[in-house]
Parts: sequence; C-alpha cells; structure tokens
Amino acid sequence: TEFAARAKSVIDEYKGLEGPLLPILHGLQEEFGYVPGESVPIIAETLNLSRAEVHGVITFYHDYRSHPAGRHALKVCRAEACQSMGGDAIAAQLIQALGIGFHETAADNSVTLEPVFCLGMCACAPAAMLDGEPIGRIDAEKIEEIVAEVRS
Ligand code: FES
Repeated sequence: TEFAARAKSVIDEYKGLEGPLLPILHGLQEEFGYVPGESVPIIAETLNLSRAEVHGVITFYHDYRSHPAGRHALKVCRAEACQSMGGDAIAAQLIQALGIGFHETAADNSVTLEPVFCLGMCACAPAAMLDGEPIGRIDAEKIEEIVAEVRS
C-alpha cells in the first residue's frame, strides 16, 4: 500500500543509525503527524524487536501520538509557577469541559490536549497555548472561550 511504502521509506532512512528506534518514531510522526499503529509491525520486524517493545516505547514517550491530532492543539502548562497559581484546578476544569485527558484527542477530533513544562509565560500564570497563541491568567471565563473556540 501507499501507506506501507511511506512508512517503510522513513524506517529505511533511519534504520542504520545506532539506536534507530527513536529517530524512526520521530520520522514517522513528522511524516504522518502521528505514529500509525500499522507501522508498529514493520518497525518491529526491521529492528528485530517485538511489537510489544515498540509499542512500549511509543507509549513511554508522550511526544509520540498514536492517533491523528485534533484540529486544535491545546497545550497546558504543568510547571511550577503555573501550579502555584492554581494550574492544577485549571487543568482539571479544562479536562472536564473538554471531556478528554492529557495526550487525548476529542472524539469529534476538535482538539488534542497536551501538557507542557513552562511556556515561558510564568508572569502570566496559569498559562496555556492554543494553536500557538499564548493565553495567560486563565480563569473560568477564559476556559469558556477556549472551549467555544475549539468547538467552533
Ligand atoms: Fe507555566 Fe512557566 S511555569 S509558563
């Protein structure tokens, strides 16, 4: 299939490296926007690993997604300055309002929620980033705006 051919060319590009698994996963994510489950057996066979080992690495590193990302990307800061300004409660409210957890994509594919560790906006904590746009001093009102935006 065309998919397998694309996946294979990425895998072939990196398989000669020392420690090729992470570069391969990275390359696949660049190519497809996520690491498709169908590529796992191809990687396993090429690198002589079990599928479970490959899958374990994909789930261990939260940078890799196993599903296509949503139309919007919401990154919520989980680092200290934001935590001290109520970041936990804000994260919990976003999770509840969106109905998804971190590293998850809404069923309607509207948004993917990701944790990040410091957006460099500590002075405006608690902070998040929606599609690359910084949002500071998040409160209940801003949460409503965020939810409205991703659902529109
Ligand atoms: Fe959240 Fe720096 S700790 S932006």
